Amino acid sequence: MATATTPEPAPDSSTPAPALLDVRDLYVEFRTRDGVAQAVNGVSYRVDAGETLAVLGESGSGKSVTAQAVMGILDSPPGFVTGGEVLFRGRDLLKAAPEERRRVRGARMAMIFQDALSSLNPVLSVGAQLGEMYEVHQGMKRKDARAKAVELMDRVKIPAARSRVGDYPHQFSGGMRQRIMIAMALALEPDLIIADEPTTALDVTVQAQVMDLLADLQREYAMGLILITHDLGVVADVADRIAVMYAGRIVETSPIHDLYKTPAHPYTRGLLDSIPRLDQKGQELYAIKGLPDVAPGRSSACHFWEETVRDEEPPHDR
Ligand SMILES: Nc1ncnc2c1ncn2[C@@H]1O[C@H](COP(=O)(O)OP(=O)(O)OP(=O)(O)O)[C@@H](O)[C@H]1O
Ligand SMILES: [Mg+2]
Repeated sequence: MATATTPEPAPDSSTPAPALLDVRDLYVEFRTRDGVAQAVNGVSYRVDAGETLAVLGESGSGKSVTAQAVMGILDSPPGFVTGGEVLFRGRDLLKAAPEERRRVRGARMAMIFQDALSSLNPVLSVGAQLGEMYEVHQGMKRKDARAKAVELMDRVKIPAARSRVGDYPHQFSGGMRQRIMIAMALALEPDLIIADEPTTALDVTVQAQVMDLLADLQREYAMGLILITHDLGVVADVADRIAVMYAGRIVETSPIHDLYKTPAHPYTRGLLDSIPRLDQKGQELYAIKGLPDVAPGRSSACHFWEETVRDEEPPHDR
């Protein structure tokens, strides 16, 4: 809600309606004893309502740190947002008061993490944790909140929800726990969900089930979804667009089908080549050289070029 101290953003003629989320030129650095690590180097991406953006990139490329900065849950210190904008429905959350950010987080945007077991409270039943969302944010009575918890558990297809609502997180399987995380995120019907590697800890069959569930709910609620992963296979079926990150930068953004057909950046081509294919039996799997190193003291040149192709071809456009 806009107040006297939080003016509405000026209309921007280049974008007719503000995107649900529009991250512009975001910079995040970690100030450590060894120096400053530039983890996010001018990232821009946008997600509209009802759209799924996959953010892909190898370990350390800045996917999670970007998401944490967007959610306002960056570990600070040592992490600091040093530039850019996080426009949520046109309003820059980086300029919002902590109270407003807290309100937006949870109610309007929610995050699903990879590791449900450490994200859920081990000494509270799942019903109590789900119900708490309604008690705290909507002032609901405990009994009503518990009924909503059962309803949510049904939504995310947890069998025998009514009899399991009093169970604790450790009494559920990994896949079921991840469903509970999804239920927590959904509870207040947010406009945007950021799912950070939501299925990485699960076995392949369960991964697919949880992914299907997430995609179904996203469509049903017409939410924006940012799906962070390093698995191209996971995104093919569910994402509308894909942003590829490397060393704190988005190196390529494109509609999902274009990316598979005509990857522009050499790192993306490498990613596609590193997917195992049934028609290439017996061949060694392609591996991308180098690491997305953002350690203090790195130059500002494209890190992918420095790590992998510098000696082989001239620098590309970056
Ligand atoms: N608390 C921290 N202190 C210092 N550096 C950090 C901290 N958190 C993250 N970083 C650095 O920021 C960079 C980006 O990390 P990030 O977690 O965003 O990578 P990621 O793309 O999510 O990788 P992964 O696929 O492994 O989850 C890394 O170089 C990481 O070491
Ligand atoms: Mg991560």
